[in-house]
Amino acid sequence: MRLFIDSANLEEIRKAAEFKIIDGVTTNPSLIAREGHDHHDQIRAICGILDGDISAEVVATDMEGMIREGRALAKIHDSVVVKIPLIRDGIKAVATLSSEGIRTNVTLCFSPLQALLAAKAGAYLISPFIGRLDDISHDGSELIREIVAIYDNYGYPTEVLAASARGPLHVKEAALAGAHVCTLPFKVFDQLFNHPLTDIGLEKFLADYRKTLVVQA
Ligand code: G3P
Repeated sequence: MRLFIDSANLEEIRKAAEFKIIDGVTTNPSLIAREGHDHHDQIRAICGILDGDISAEVVATDMEGMIREGRALAKIHDSVVVKIPLIRDGIKAVATLSSEGIRTNVTLCFSPLQALLAAKAGAYLISPFIGRLDDISHDGSELIREIVAIYDNYGYPTEVLAASARGPLHVKEAALAGAHVCTLPFKVFDQLFNHPLTDIGLEKFLADYRKTLVVQA
């Protein structure tokens, strides 16, 4: 499973890139706004930090505007994947952009039938928001399983990117459900390393080893 960092913060992305196991970055208008810099400049800076797919989202909601913005975002860097919301004009824009060879990430997906439409339009990635479904007591991981099953049934090449991960359990559920990618906040990525028995076991190994040094001395 590929892991992306869901952030527009350059310091977080630099820290994540140091592990050499992060395969990309997803941003959205809220994450970009939080950084307070020009959208294209921020995306260009991210592309300079990490090799991998960098999702940059349009803010237009009409087909012509999304196509125009998508073409401009794609020109920033070869790593850019254009994020398009799953609305009627968005699907029309995806069909045009994908026919021009521009990779798209269709976002704000909350149903398997929405995901079917995105695949038919030629989306490169589909982003079901599992955390926001769980937030309203729906089963986000079930959505991942349904999309993976539908895509497998018909051989759609669109890859499933589990988004809106709220914690390590979402990452596990996405992996078990067969998502191709999971995007996660840096805080959640950092939590993946943690287990108390690892810490206890390492401390015991080192304590036992230190005893032998005392004996040898
Ligand atoms: O960036 C897309 C998605 O990961 C947003 O997650 O936490 O705002 O639901 P969240």
